[in-house]
Amino acid sequence: MRLVTRAGELHAARASLPRPLGFVPTMGALHAGHSALIERARAECEAVAVSVFVNPLQFGPNEDFQSYPRSVDDDRELLESLDVALLFAPSVSEMYPQKLDVFVEPTMLARHLEGERRPGHFRGVATVVLKLLNLVAPQRAYFGEKDAQQLAVLRRMVDDLAVPVEVIACETVREPDGLALSSRNVYLGAAERRAAPNLHRALEKTREMLEAGESEVSAVLEPARATLAPLREDYLAVVRPDEFRPLASVAPAATLIAVGAAFAGKTRLIDNVRVQTPPRAER
Ligand code: PAF
Repeated sequence: MRLVTRAGELHAARASLPRPLGFVPTMGALHAGHSALIERARAECEAVAVSVFVNPLQFGPNEDFQSYPRSVDDDRELLESLDVALLFAPSVSEMYPQKLDVFVEPTMLARHLEGERRPGHFRGVATVVLKLLNLVAPQRAYFGEKDAQQLAVLRRMVDDLAVPVEVIACETVREPDGLALSSRNVYLGAAERRAAPNLHRALEKTREMLEAGESEVSAVLEPARATLAPLREDYLAVVRPDEFRPLASVAPAATLIAVGAAFAGKTRLIDNVRVQTPPRAER
């Protein structure tokens, strides 16, 4: 695996790689969810590049940029074992040598939910991902479905700005009890870890009721909220995957996403499940 830390060295490094090149952007602290993205890219592409960069632009002033888990040596070892050809691990000053004046600003898709709770987050994500795509120039880029709103924003960015890359979504990897893998799970104390799968259980409850024919979202969120305790709800909502606006009621035969964010102590968890509402005749 070739390690590149300077943006200026990437051009030569990627020129020697066969195509199609698959790319998995990460913030490090790699876990089995990242391995699944890399393995999928490895299966579908001739070579895989991974970036490890904790992007300050996507953290709010009171968020965990400083304390975000970093495990550079373990990450490198894992990437070597997964047959990754290129690791791009720039410093903050390498990625942002001057104060940025131009950003990618998602609008409609960033208005609600994560975008509302974390102002500027998706602008930071979209800006860094576009820059990484420009630097690495892959044919395919792989993202996890756990960050469903991020995925929607990035798909839309690629469409709207005609970025020459195919975005590939990969299913969320979960612990046996349903908790979605996340680098932030290392923050969880023992009691918090035991309660953490309740977010997934609450979303599953939402999915079951909608798929059984309930169409009023408030009627499904009430039992879902009961399932969430002792986690503290940030939000639970049902959205269309191309809008991310909380719906009050759902249409028949619709493909939707039940999304949620909740606190286990100070740790904020997010998750989502796909929902397919039944056709009108069955309701
Ligand atoms: O999902 C992440 O880890 C980050 O948001 C990403 C896409 C690597 C951008 O920093």
